[in-house]
Amino acid sequence: MASRVIIGSQWGDEGKGKTIDIYAQKSDVVVRSQGGNNAGHTVEADGQVYKLHLIPSGILNPETVCVIGPGVVIDPKVILEEIDSLEARGVTTDNLKIDPRAHVIMPYHIELDGLSEAARGKTDIGTTKRGIGPCYMDKSERSGIRICDLMDSNLFTQKSLRNLELKNKIITLIYGGKALDDSFIKEYLGYADRLRKYVEDTTCLVYDAIKAGKDVLFEGAQGTLLDLSIGTYPYVTSSYPISGGVCIGAGIGPTMIDECIGIAKAYTTRVGKGPFPTELFDEIGDTIREKGNEYGTTTGRPRRCGWLDAVILKFSVRTSGLTSLVLNKLDTMSGLETLKICTGYKKNGEIITEFPASLEELALCKPVYEEMPGFNEDVTGIREYDKLPENAKRYVERIEQLCDVKISMIGVGPGRDQNINR
Ligand code: GDP
Ligand code: IMO
Ligand code: MG
Repeated sequence: MASRVIIGSQWGDEGKGKTIDIYAQKSDVVVRSQGGNNAGHTVEADGQVYKLHLIPSGILNPETVCVIGPGVVIDPKVILEEIDSLEARGVTTDNLKIDPRAHVIMPYHIELDGLSEAARGKTDIGTTKRGIGPCYMDKSERSGIRICDLMDSNLFTQKSLRNLELKNKIITLIYGGKALDDSFIKEYLGYADRLRKYVEDTTCLVYDAIKAGKDVLFEGAQGTLLDLSIGTYPYVTSSYPISGGVCIGAGIGPTMIDECIGIAKAYTTRVGKGPFPTELFDEIGDTIREKGNEYGTTTGRPRRCGWLDAVILKFSVRTSGLTSLVLNKLDTMSGLETLKICTGYKKNGEIITEFPASLEELALCKPVYEEMPGFNEDVTGIREYDKLPENAKRYVERIEQLCDVKISMIGVGPGRDQNINR
């Protein structure tokens, strides 16, 4: 029995949902601890595809308790739509628990996300426009509205009206937008009635589960390089996707975590703006996008694609204390004549192997590649490591060597069973 953290090691979309669903089948509790419906986690099980944004990817297992912890920001409309769509497909959500401390995404947050992005012009972040940043801003500013407030109609009305007055000033006077009316309050109180049955102090639930020796899985959202503190700031999200963020977002202590598993793709992708040293602008990039179906789960935007960057993975191993790595989408690499791994960056003639803090410095960096012969075989049906083509194994083992981490599982397709355990 163990408590495991699963995080994204690149810029998100590494296949966390798929891997979490696999681990969830033997977990008692699955916990989302940060982010909101900017996340899009895909699970393919029994021929069905599920795209989850807020509800933990353990939900397909009715025995698993699924927790939305204090650090998550919740759009009540979106979570209810997700609940309804799962129930309509025969998936029970009776095992869902929502922490009363989680913050609520309000209509003015969504409005402000769009307006601030438009005002940034060419320097926009490329956010998902789901109101995530503005909601976390209110949380830090200490004016946010939490699920426990939403459960109290008087308090919710009072706080909403107070915030709306100020937000409308910002919307109209600063951004030249149109003021919002207060009709959302009634709408949100309707959502509150439906959400009430899920609300429970999840910090106690998670603590008790770990103390009782149960299997607890923390479902990361986004990825290391999108971390507010250590990512490619300001082209990041507004929360902490690294393993340390789990403690803050779930309300547990670091001594309660046994393993930290990083998820990576066999290449690199990014949605939204911001630096991406190994990005490909050629046919190979297009081939990876098409073969890997690299289009955003949340926004449908085409994902930027590039070679695997070992500098980034090493950074993730270090900053999250990863105990192992899962390498997904090895199947997508089949058919490429040459595989390239970025082993360092060349900056003004000097080779650096640590990811720089400053974007200005990063802009001067050119990736240094190590080339390896590719493989042509279809690997989607392979379940044993030894049966992989020699060149695929060499690629996997070189990544392990460069990043100083064990690759414990390899994804060879989107299905639940399309994995190689090592
Ligand atoms: P997440 O945000 O990390 O959960 O990842 P997404 O669901 O946004 O994107 C990952 C995509 O890759 C999804 O469409 C998955 O079904 C798919 N996927 C995951 N692992 C594999 C794999 O090993 N091979 C292939 N071909 N697809 C995979
Ligand atoms: P999952 O959990 C990929 C990116 C956005 C944008 C930046 C800020 O599916 O891996 P935000 O709306 O959070 O303020 O946008 O972060 N982003 C993601 N990219 N996967 C995600 O989640 C993401 N969540 C946010 O594209 O660049
Ligand atoms: Mg995703």
